[in-house]
Amino acid sequence: MLLATCVVALFCFIPASSLAPPNCEDLVRPLDHVDGHQLDGRWAMIAGSLVDPKHVERFKSRDSAVIKFSNASDTSNTSNLLLERMFGFGDKCEYHPSNITLEGNGFSSSNVSITFIHTGCSDCLLMRFTEAGALRNLYLFSKRREVEGDVMDEFKTQAECVKSQPPVMMDSSKKLCPDQMPTLPEIEELAEKLKAVENVAPDA
Ligand SMILES: *[C@@H]1O[C@H](CO)[C@@H](O)[C@H](O)[C@H]1NC(C)=O
Ligand SMILES: *[C@@H]1O[C@H](CO)[C@@H](O)[C@H](O)[C@H]1NC(C)=O
Ligand SMILES: *[C@@H]1O[C@H](CO)[C@@H](O)[C@H](O)[C@H]1NC(C)=O
Ligand SMILES: *[C@@H]1O[C@H](CO)[C@@H](O)[C@H](O)[C@H]1NC(C)=O
Repeated sequence: MLLATCVVALFCFIPASSLAPPNCEDLVRPLDHVDGHQLDGRWAMIAGSLVDPKHVERFKSRDSAVIKFSNASDTSNTSNLLLERMFGFGDKCEYHPSNITLEGNGFSSSNVSITFIHTGCSDCLLMRFTEAGALRNLYLFSKRREVEGDVMDEFKTQAECVKSQPPVMMDSSKKLCPDQMPTLPEIEELAEKLKAVENVAPDA
């Protein structure tokens, strides 16, 4: 009886992590399906893991990164979304809008396929970028500026699982780029439309 207790106690002191390697298949499994509703809005980059160490310096040159998903102008097809990427460098912001089509659990943009990966964080997006079948990077985004330590631990393990570099954290004290303002031609076009409405109104 006493012996049995000791044996149990011994096992209890061995940390779970040293007993078994992380279950990578489960940790980096793609989501089954993603819809526009789940992606809606702005997401701040929390951390990125890049496969190629040469890309890490470029990644670090950004002070902040935001992705924003919204309905495309053609709302008849809910798979078509507008994706805006916003990068902060000092006081400057760079904007890269693109139209994307969701297919199952991801989308493609030029030669890069983006897949949404499982994460234990409920207000996060974990995105895997591959080019010609080869992994390029894993990016973790959240609705918040910072996530709990266990989310970061999970992300580190996920990066190890796919043999990528350790994640680089974004500085959460750096301000995020605001949504892009309409361009001058867009404002002028809107003003023209308003004028047309005003011209019609008095007779109505
Ligand atoms: C698009 O519009 C629908 C209906 O108005 C809304 O439910 C959805 O959250 C919007 N955004 C995206 C990205 O689908
Ligand atoms: C939405 O558009 C994509 C490509 O633009 C197309 O493959 C898909 O079938 C469309 N879905 C619907 C419901 O029309
Ligand atoms: C997205 O598509 C809409 C119409 O389909 C077009 O007006 C707009 O310029 C496109 N945006 C980008 C960034 O390609
Ligand atoms: C896509 O891949 C092809 C062939 O590998 C290459 O020639 C082309 O420049 C790539 N396009 C972009 C936008 O990277």
